[in-house]
Amino acid sequence: MSFLTDADIDPRPLAGKRVAILGYGNQGRAQALNLKDSGIDVVVGLRGGSGSTIEAEAAGLETALLDHAVGSADVVMMLAPDEIHAALYREIEPQLRQGAALGFSHGLSVRFGFVEPRADLDVFMVAPKGPGTALRSLYTQGQGMIGLWAVERDATGRARDIALAYGRAIGCGRAGLIASSFAEEAEADLFNEQAVVWGGVPELLIAGFDTLVEGGVSPEVAYLECVGELHLIAELIEARGIAGMREAISNTAELGALLGGRRIVDDAIRQRMREILSEVRAGRFAAELRAEETSAYARLSEARERARSTLIEKTNRKLAQKS
Ligand SMILES: NC(=O)c1ccc[n+]([C@@H]2O[C@H](COP(=O)([O-])OP(=O)(O)OC[C@H]3O[C@@H](n4cnc5c(N)ncnc54)[C@H](OP(=O)(O)O)[C@@H]3O)[C@@H](O)[C@H]2O)c1
Repeated sequence: MSFLTDADIDPRPLAGKRVAILGYGNQGRAQALNLKDSGIDVVVGLRGGSGSTIEAEAAGLETALLDHAVGSADVVMMLAPDEIHAALYREIEPQLRQGAALGFSHGLSVRFGFVEPRADLDVFMVAPKGPGTALRSLYTQGQGMIGLWAVERDATGRARDIALAYGRAIGCGRAGLIASSFAEEAEADLFNEQAVVWGGVPELLIAGFDTLVEGGVSPEVAYLECVGELHLIAELIEARGIAGMREAISNTAELGALLGGRRIVDDAIRQRMREILSEVRAGRFAAELRAEETSAYARLSEARERARSTLIEKTNRKLAQKS
């Protein structure tokens, strides 16, 4: 595994270059501010009438309409939501300078063909492994967030150096940059979202809560047991790894985990995980994402509405009021 830090990375490939950050959301804000504080010439590209213009300018950033920002830049970072990358790229392609570098923080839109960059462009990825809020706060504390980097196309012979200098400038080089590819990053990320941290874990918490409540346990106790302890295990795993976490808990909890864990996550679940990975690789999720955008996020809106009225959410709100 190639693991590079600031000491291994030359910052000069970005010197004198202008970077356009398209989008001022979770990642756009953090990356634009980190670049500016690293001494990079940065402009935030926004659509006409964007509510983010005032916020970005108040933070000391230069802003411009998308086409002006793109036309003035040597490096253009696509930091709008993945599902609009196809339309956004179509809009900006005529303004992209010959031989410019086009950057992404997620491999999805290139891996699944939403964007097919022009042949003269360098195409790179720097994907911080965490939210923009943490990327920014770590940077301001003199630390950094680990990230993956990749070059999809090296048209100019400079793509690798630009990608690494970019990763260094947003602070990822302080923690470490791991070489990957657009395909590996996109597939692993989409798999995790569905099967593990963002899809699997919350459903496990809900199933545990529902089982205890059905078994006559009060919603408050069920919530504290099944959901309230999540941050404890996350902190322990981060600090000590999974084996270290198990050694740190009581013998009672450790034996319970040993006897129960594999009964819950059994071979059938591992088989369904493999199915999800195959479906991700075949592009099924990417198609669902585009359909969701086309339907004005109908499924997501309905699911959000439904989730707010469940007993587990009511219990969360009740406990939050008391604490
Ligand atoms: N969220 C994360 O923590 C995270 C972590 C790692 C990688 N990433 C990747 O980073 C990229 C950006 O994700 P994000 O979560 O930061 O996005 P986000 O917060 O949803 O992006 C919002 C920004 O995109 C702009 N935008 C939305 N629709 C647009 C359109 N049609 N035309 C032009 N601009 C538009 C918005 O403009 P307005 O200001 O005008 O509304 C806003 O500035 C994605 O590739 C994502 O996979 C995200």
